[in-house]
Amino acid sequence: MKKVDVVLGSFYGDEGKGKIIDYLGTQADVALRATGGNNAGHSIEVDGEKYVFHLIPSGILNNGTYAIIGNGVVIDPKVLLEEIKSLEDKGKSVSKLRISTKAHIIFPYHIAMDKLLEKNRGKGKIGTTARGIGPCYCDKYERCGLRVEDLYLVNFYDKLKINIENKNRIFKLYGEKEFDVDNVYKEYLGYAKKIKKYVCDTTILIHDLLNKDKKVICEGAQATLLDIDFGSYPFVTSSNPTIGGILTGSGLNPSNIGEVIGVMKAYSSRVGEGPYVTELKNEIGDKIRELGHEYGATTKRPRRCGYLDLVALKYACLINGITCLCMNHLDTIGKLDTFKVCVAYKNGDKVTTDFTTNEKELLDSTPVYETFKGNFGDISKVRKYEDLPDSAKKYIERIEEFVGVPIKYIGVGAGREEMIVR
Ligand code: IMO
Ligand code: MG
Repeated sequence: MKKVDVVLGSFYGDEGKGKIIDYLGTQADVALRATGGNNAGHSIEVDGEKYVFHLIPSGILNNGTYAIIGNGVVIDPKVLLEEIKSLEDKGKSVSKLRISTKAHIIFPYHIAMDKLLEKNRGKGKIGTTARGIGPCYCDKYERCGLRVEDLYLVNFYDKLKINIENKNRIFKLYGEKEFDVDNVYKEYLGYAKKIKKYVCDTTILIHDLLNKDKKVICEGAQATLLDIDFGSYPFVTSSNPTIGGILTGSGLNPSNIGEVIGVMKAYSSRVGEGPYVTELKNEIGDKIRELGHEYGATTKRPRRCGYLDLVALKYACLINGITCLCMNHLDTIGKLDTFKVCVAYKNGDKVTTDFTTNEKELLDSTPVYETFKGNFGDISKVRKYEDLPDSAKKYIERIEEFVGVPIKYIGVGAGREEMIVR
């Protein structure tokens, strides 16, 4: 039986997971999403055409590949249908899309609640994507959430009614708009009808396909430091985008897992609030943002930018059991004359290479840097590691030495082909 390769974010998201997933996807029979929802934004460029995915596994671009949305995902059906339409408009088939019966559904009141909670947090806001992700997972764990299969039950209306009545009490308290159960019911019945042909028990399907020796690639969303347990809580997302969430979000078991590919950039970025030790709130950070086009695929927000943080990367390798790394944007960092990489955190007298998720400790930590030479020239056409300039190789080898994991894939441009595979 073939093993499942898993692609995971190793920092605060937006590491370019879409690009490596797309590359590996050409060799896969199945592309799988197990966590998160349309808070994710994966941009891919194929033959000059740009695609942005929020929910559907991007592996669907390869004809004949199953695209599976697993039970751990939260689905906004309106967004899903828009994504299906946009693919079909570009001549892509979605006939092999499959959606788990057990995935939870995002309703308009989740989105409204996400916005209300953020408003109430005031200065302590998280900077969520306002897609209703947190409130939907809240309902899942509170056990009142509605799953895809509930849309087809005779008591769907009753379940929805109880939820809406309960939420409306809160909205009323804050003077917010209340929801009408009949309107939401009608809207979602329409969605239910349209997505029905894609719905199945995806866990059984995945194991059936594995038994038939099919190759599965699991497409991680979000990232290690956004993990509800292992990230910089409370400035995190409401799921486990780390390796554990991949298993519980799909029904895969540990022995199914093959390579765990950690995706990173040659620098770093973060969207939303929360501590960020290597953030550059200066003209270098601004320059990285412009050179790397660091604006959100989901919310269009300018991303906070900084140098690569090896303390955090080592932690991501530890939590996820990362077997190899994919480093994107080597070309981008190589446009600077010199650049730095963080090799330890300094907090008062304490110098450590261990990542902490404690908010105060993170805020009090300053990076200890090593400096590297840039000016790599145009490396977008380089396909062999040996052909990279020595200064670039020095940087890569220092990272590998620090984290003890090989960098197998190196992105040298945005295009599908612009990658070195070692
Ligand atoms: P991809 O898959 C970057 C961040 C949000 C916010 C926090 C919580 O593209 O890497 P949420 O809406 O999930 O409750 O927001 O998490 N966040 C992301 N940041 N990339 C993502 O996904 C993200 N998904 C969530 O900005 O700080
Ligand atoms: Mg993103």
